[in-house]
Amino acid sequence: MQPINRPIRWGILSTGAIAAAFATALRQVTDATLLAVGSRSQASADGFAQIHNVDRAYASYVELAADPDVDVVYIASPHTAHFENTMLCLGAGKHVLCEKPFALNSTQTEQMVALAKHNGLFLMEAMWMRFIPLIVELKRRIDAGDIGQVRMVQADFGFRAPLNPNSRLFNPELAGGALLDLGVYPLAFSALLLGQPTEITSLADIGRTGVDEQSAYVLKHKDGELSTLASALRTQTSMSAWVYGTQGRIHLPKQFWRAKEMVLYRNDMEPEPIHLPYEGSGYQFEAQEVVDCLRSGQTESKVMPLGDSVSLMNTMDTIRRQWGLTFSIEAE
Ligand SMILES: NC(=O)c1ccc[n+]([C@@H]2O[C@H](COP(=O)([O-])OP(=O)(O)OC[C@H]3O[C@@H](n4cnc5c(N)ncnc54)[C@H](OP(=O)(O)O)[C@@H]3O)[C@@H](O)[C@H]2O)c1
Repeated sequence: MQPINRPIRWGILSTGAIAAAFATALRQVTDATLLAVGSRSQASADGFAQIHNVDRAYASYVELAADPDVDVVYIASPHTAHFENTMLCLGAGKHVLCEKPFALNSTQTEQMVALAKHNGLFLMEAMWMRFIPLIVELKRRIDAGDIGQVRMVQADFGFRAPLNPNSRLFNPELAGGALLDLGVYPLAFSALLLGQPTEITSLADIGRTGVDEQSAYVLKHKDGELSTLASALRTQTSMSAWVYGTQGRIHLPKQFWRAKEMVLYRNDMEPEPIHLPYEGSGYQFEAQEVVDCLRSGQTESKVMPLGDSVSLMNTMDTIRRQWGLTFSIEAE
């Protein structure tokens, strides 16, 4: 792929909550402009365009994908639409940043990756956690051996949402449930530090709408390392993470996936607090990565490579198979 030697022109596909947060974050990104938005309705597209100062507002995703001036599309639709929307944009020659979970399953994920590669286009899962400065520093410290060899990882992401069967979180028609929405973060955190698991054991409590309201996962990795992870939609959890090594441990407090501070406890040394504050939501860092990749002609991020997204999806497929949880849309 040829490097793009001018500011990158973004399109946003859909006008929901995360689309709005991302549009705001784009203002903090160097060499990026928000050119267009596409929605299933003209009224939503116009409303979004007005609030976020976007020049072009389309009444369909197809029209957005067809805009010849858009370089890259950010897919912010519900999980169930990620595959179709990503394939549409890649098929129209657009680079793509697609929200997490990247797709519903590994079959879809592999098709998305294959089309991006075939068309020579950039594709990345919006796993923004990996670009948060403190998470980058955590990885650097661990790779430098600051806590010895990592032996265990603990992380959870759970909150108590009101039980609304129609909301994206609880609706099986929109592939709701804790695993795909929230569990993907502790799983991606574990994968960042320990790689792909070799064994997976999990349990879920399936609620009355038919999706997992809470679930827990124990992963074993190649040298016997263990990850104990959990996610929940109806239970407030600590939302924190611990990384335990042979020579110390690291604690990331509440909202570990967007943390600004952590404490490093090395054996026989004073605890070392590390602060890496940032302004805004934190979505600007993943967007900057996309821009930097496009401007340097890379079709894949080295920080969030496509192989990691495939592996993450394989793990979530295995977990759902253990519960017998499938979504009706997967049968279509
Ligand atoms: N990275 C993060 O921190 C983060 C946070 C929240 C969510 N997410 C992810 O982002 C995605 C969207 O989440 P959200 O909270 O923004 O959802 P949301 O507020 O419900 O918005 C989703 C948007 O998708 C479009 N859409 C397309 N097909 C739809 C359908 N069948 N039903 C409803 N909406 C449909 C709609 O936009 P139009 O009407 O304009 O077409 C809607 O506004 C999810 O996959 C979620 O996992 C990520």
